[in-house]
Amino acid sequence: MESYNKLLLANKAWAKDKLNLRPDFFEINSKDQTPEFLWIGCSDSRVPAEEITGTEPGEIFVHRNIANMVIHTDFNMLSVLQYAVDILKVKHIIVCGHYGCGGIKTALSRKHLGLINKWLRHIKDVYRFHSSELETIADEDKRVQRLVELNVIEQARHLAETSFVQKSWSKENRPTIHGWVYDMKTGNLKDFVKIEPSSINLDIYRYEFGDDE
Ligand code: CO
Repeated sequence: MESYNKLLLANKAWAKDKLNLRPDFFEINSKDQTPEFLWIGCSDSRVPAEEITGTEPGEIFVHRNIANMVIHTDFNMLSVLQYAVDILKVKHIIVCGHYGCGGIKTALSRKHLGLINKWLRHIKDVYRFHSSELETIADEDKRVQRLVELNVIEQARHLAETSFVQKSWSKENRPTIHGWVYDMKTGNLKDFVKIEPSSINLDIYRYEFGDDE
């Protein structure tokens, strides 16, 4: 059997199980979505958002990219963010990194991998902002671990710097932004930063909105 057929068979079994538990599951699920959470995670196959958070279809709006980055010129991420904040009206945004992240490891090296370097270059900037702390860590794995944590904190801040989030803060006092790290060796999530509406000093990154905006 070709490996992909396993997925199709597993899907049949999954759909059957869902119906056995709740005959109207798909009927209700297909009507609408009202997720409370936006998840921005790494594309890594070992960090499945729904599975590690025990959530069901309809509960989390998900965006994943290499190393869970929030890059201000990424229209894909920005479109997901605007839709989640303006239309779905999510209450929480979770940026979730993970230890052992290949993107972070590569960014810490001098390897040239082609196009991906342009994406990972943003992580080299996070390294530069925190180089005085990171350069005191002699062990390479520990340095990667710390950069994973610092990167999540930085990406959470990037969310707070967007006009979508700031406008929603001023009008509806949501969303709260969270920076978490998933530990693949234990299966546990760790909480590193929580930014409540307007709780952070953003200085020149804070926009002033007119009444009609
Ligand atoms: Co990763």
